[in-house]
Order: sequence, then structure tokens, then C-alpha cells
Amino acid sequence: MIIVTGGAGFIGSNFIHRWLESQGESVLNIDCLTYAGNLENLTGIRTSVPGGPTYYFSRTDICDQAALDVLFAKYQPRAVVHFAAESHVDRSIIGPAEFIRTNVNGTFALLEAAKKYLRALASPEASKFRFLHVSTDEVFGSLGENDPAFSETSSYAPNSPYSASKAASDHLVRAYFHTYGLPTLTTNCSNNYGPYQFPEKLIPLVVSRALEGQSLPIYGDGRNIRDWLYVGDHCDAIIEVLEKGRVGETYNIGGLNERTNLEVVHQLCATLDELRPKQSGKYSDQIAFVKDRPGHDRRYAIDARKISEELGWKPVESFESGLRKTVGWYLENQGWVDHVRDGSYRDWINRNYSGDAA
Ligand SMILES: NC(=O)c1ccc[n+]([C@@H]2O[C@H](COP(=O)([O-])OP(=O)(O)OC[C@H]3O[C@@H](n4cnc5c(N)ncnc54)[C@H](O)[C@@H]3O)[C@@H](O)[C@H]2O)c1
Repeated sequence: MIIVTGGAGFIGSNFIHRWLESQGESVLNIDCLTYAGNLENLTGIRTSVPGGPTYYFSRTDICDQAALDVLFAKYQPRAVVHFAAESHVDRSIIGPAEFIRTNVNGTFALLEAAKKYLRALASPEASKFRFLHVSTDEVFGSLGENDPAFSETSSYAPNSPYSASKAASDHLVRAYFHTYGLPTLTTNCSNNYGPYQFPEKLIPLVVSRALEGQSLPIYGDGRNIRDWLYVGDHCDAIIEVLEKGRVGETYNIGGLNERTNLEVVHQLCATLDELRPKQSGKYSDQIAFVKDRPGHDRRYAIDARKISEELGWKPVESFESGLRKTVGWYLENQGWVDHVRDGSYRDWINRNYSGDAA
């Protein structure tokens, strides 16, 4: 079985769905359920299928190393896929401390627990063990319009407390490979979009506000460029790296979809015009420019040749097809959006949550 950290978040929950469907191997999800962790993302998962994989959950903080030691000893994983993090740049500007705690100290505690567990493991199991750390392209800083895309050898130059804390965690993971021989793999990925994304992020935020007739806020001139990857493609890439990646290596993952924020919002509006037309006018009439945020990186772009040439991975979704799926999902799952936004999923957790659950 494998351990997934942060599996109640956006990418982690998509990963668990995909993993159980495609790999048929049990999963322990370790998540402390911050505001971004939502067990509703995992409803529909059958916790135990006769003869099939089992899904386990433990509400545990990754900073709690003693608790992690117990979980490693109890579940005996063959791999760890580490998603748990504070992940929202705007929040890191307002309150960086939580980012240092989870992203740096939490990754450190998890590495220590994995190192201790690996040392006690017998040799065939030990040689197969993997620690996969999920990171971001934001650690590389910002690109000019004509700069080549980030590759695995680009220098680290983080500009926000979020990206700085992720950069620190990447360095710790690298150090545990070189110093202690922990069999690590690191992935640095571009912006993800898809189902179950917390509605504070650009794409779900725009969909919700558009449907409510509110303004669609765009930072600065809207020309900041991001590479966009459909979350399902990201999950497939992680599975490829976990199974076939070379230990100690890093792999960049990107969608080959560079878009300005303004283009993204226009495309979203056009998709909504088609799928849920307004009574009068177009959704793009609601676009409004707002003051830029500090340290707003101008452009990110990913050179994903290494993962494609070494492991044969390529994204399946185009931006248009991925966006259509995503908008369709949010339209069909307004109940999920409403629960997240009115906080009722938190009430649900408080009412129903009772420790470890299998
Ligand atoms: N979202 C993106 O576009 C993107 C792109 C590249 C990389 N990443 C990386 O992927 C990972 C997942 O991102 P996401 O967007 O799914 O994040 P998210 O914020 O949606 O989810 C994070 C999850 O981690 C949990 N968590 C936070 N602190 C914890 C702690 N101390 N102990 C245990 N659990 C904790 C939360 O409860 C939540 O379930 C992060 O490491 C992020 O840096 C994200």
C-alpha cells in the first residue's frame, strides 16, 4: 500500500480517485483537514472492495513526527506521495508562518519518519521504497516573455513566501537523498485546474462569480502568463514518475498550455456562454481589473521534455478540452461548491469525524 499526504485537498483527492481506479492498490490518506482539506472530495470512494484495494484515512498533522512513526509502522507503505502543503500564494503573503510550518517543518518531519521506517525495513522492500515529493514550478521564479521555459536545471529563485517554503522543502528532499540515501523523487508542476479545486483559485473562482453575476477580478493588466495542466494529467504523470522515475531525480511536469490570465478568463467566459448562456449579454462583460498583488511573477513556463523522453508521459487534455470538462464539473456539482463556500463541509467534519476511518 502507499501513503498519500494531503489527500483531502484538490490534487491529492484527484490522485486518490485515479490511483484506486487505475492501480488497485490500497491507500492511507494522511491529512489534518485545514480549510483546504475536504472529505467531500472523497465521497463515492468505496472504502473496501472484496479482494480489492482499501482506502484508509487518518486525521494527522504531518508536523507530528511521533504520530507519523506510528502510521508508518502500522501500515508498512511501499511508497509515500507527499502533497500536503499550504498552497495559496495570496494567503502566504498575509500569513507566511503556516507555510513555513507545514511546507518546511512538515516535510522535514515526514522525511525523518520515512528515513526511520526505511532503516528498519528488510532489504527487498527497502530497495523498492520511494518517497515522491510534489512541488511547483513557482520555485524557479519568474520568466521574461522570451526566456526559455524552466527545465530541471533552472536555478531556484522563489519570489513569494509560498514558493520559498516549497523551495526549502525541495532542498530538504534532495538532501535526504544525497545524505541518507532516501530513495526520493521530486516533481515540479505548473498550474493545475479541474474538479475539487478550492473556490479561492482562479478557475473555480471565476466560474462561481460569473454564475452569480459578480465582477470577475483580474490582477494588474491580466498579462501574467501561466502554464495550465489538467489535474488528471498531473496525477498520471505522478504515477509514471513513481513507478519508472530514476531515484534522486527531479521531473518537470507541464501542460504545454501557456496562457495569459486574461486569455484564461475569456476562454472560461466563452465556455460558460455556451454551456450556461446568460439571459442577456456575455459573461466577459463582468471582467474587472484590480490592483496587482506584490511579487506577482510575470511568466511561468515548463520544459517537460525530460518526463516525456524518459518516461513517455504527455498530457492527454488540451486546454480547451480540460476546461470544458472542468466547467461542466462545476456546473454539475454546485452543491459541492455551495458546501465549501458556506462552510457546511466543516460542520459535516465536526459532526461526523471520529478519528481514523477505514
Ligand atoms: N494547485 C496547483 O496548481 C499546484 C501546482 C503545482 C504543485 N502543487 C503542489 O501540489 C500539492 C497539492 O496542492 P493542492 O492544490 O492540492 O493543495 P490544497 O491546498 O488543495 O490541499 C492541501 C491539502 O493538504 C492538507 N494539509 C495542509 N497542511 C497539512 C498538515 N500540516 N498536515 C496534514 N495535512 C495538511 C490540507 O488539509 C489539504 O487537504 C502542494 O504541495 C502544492 O504545492 C500545486
